[in-house]
Amino acid sequence: MIDKKIRDLIKKEEERQEKLVHLIPSENFASEEVRMALGSCLTNKYAEGYPGRRYYQGNGFIDEIENLAIERGKKILGVEHLNVQPYSGSPANSAIQMALLEREDKICGLKLSAGGHLTHGHPKITFSGKFFENVQYDVEEDGRIDYKKLEEFVLKEKPKMIMVGTTAYPWILDFKKFGEIGDKVGAWVVADVSHIIGLIVGGVHPSPVDYVHVIMSTTHKSLRGPRGAFIGVTKKGLEKDPELSSKIDKAVFPGLQGGPHENNIAAMAVCFAEADTQNFRDYATQVVKNAKVLAEALKKNGLKVFGTENHLMVVDVGKGRGKEVAVRLEEEGIVCNANTVPHDKAGPFRPSGIRIGTPAMTTKGWKEKEFEDLAKRMAKIIKVN
Ligand SMILES: Cc1ncc(COP(=O)(O)O)c(C=O)c1O
Repeated sequence: MIDKKIRDLIKKEEERQEKLVHLIPSENFASEEVRMALGSCLTNKYAEGYPGRRYYQGNGFIDEIENLAIERGKKILGVEHLNVQPYSGSPANSAIQMALLEREDKICGLKLSAGGHLTHGHPKITFSGKFFENVQYDVEEDGRIDYKKLEEFVLKEKPKMIMVGTTAYPWILDFKKFGEIGDKVGAWVVADVSHIIGLIVGGVHPSPVDYVHVIMSTTHKSLRGPRGAFIGVTKKGLEKDPELSSKIDKAVFPGLQGGPHENNIAAMAVCFAEADTQNFRDYATQVVKNAKVLAEALKKNGLKVFGTENHLMVVDVGKGRGKEVAVRLEEEGIVCNANTVPHDKAGPFRPSGIRIGTPAMTTKGWKEKEFEDLAKRMAKIIKVN
């Protein structure tokens, strides 16, 4: 059967992706090779368990594929153990928390409004916020974490787990500081590097590998892989608990998930190999260069910008105007998302900013000149609106 309706819609989405300017910092364009693996026959196979320990027959090639993904991932990340089965970032964080926390233990994460993620203990509505006691740290007026204040907060609250990871934080994260602070209270320190993984692997953001116990990342953002995630266990993690790897594996399967998506895991293996090249390191360098140019050019054009030292920034577009500005920009072919600014006076439902980043358009070949021109266009639209 040819499903004409779905084909037409995919075609339209393809054209939208081709034509517009994509600035959502968590989006990117996966290579042909990654998409080939995703759309392959691997989607047909059940493989509950882990390589060499499957519940179904017929997993010889699947084992080779998953082992290759693990090997390649461990090489570029420098971790001791890698689980490549999490379906995506949220289930991966849930698995880590399920592995290492008991009900009512205290989890500490960056506030959502300050650029944290829902799965880092956001109260009431999320798994991490419902099943564990949560305490959240904030950023300062300038959007930066004050590590002295963070230390005081952690010493007072004594969380069992500290989540270090962000979705809208434009500054370099000091993983060493986080590690030292966590050690003072004996907490698990988990780096969720979903946003900056491409920059870490590309050598333009410090790696958390020496300072935290667990590293989680999605693979579909700055790493340019398939929608998925991995959980890595570091040497420091194994020193804290020699059983850590097996606790993580058991929480992923059978704790939270069933059969792994081996088409995804093959695509992950491809993206790990692609990331282990000079070409990718050049890409990551260009992402950061482009972001700096975009931020400076927006400032030069009269806008208040938070950032940047990484791939993204938050632009203050006026109290409560984030959503309308995002809609207006989309009408002009520029796609971004509304976002709170630090200590947003308008609250989370009518945010005052937009969040923009350079990973996707850098993949399309954009350099400094294109981003400088774009800043001028954007400033005009934002100010007139
Ligand atoms: C820092 C961070 N962690 C976790 C996630 C969740 O990933 P997913 O959407 O794949 O569940 C995201 C997604 O935006 C993220 O930015």
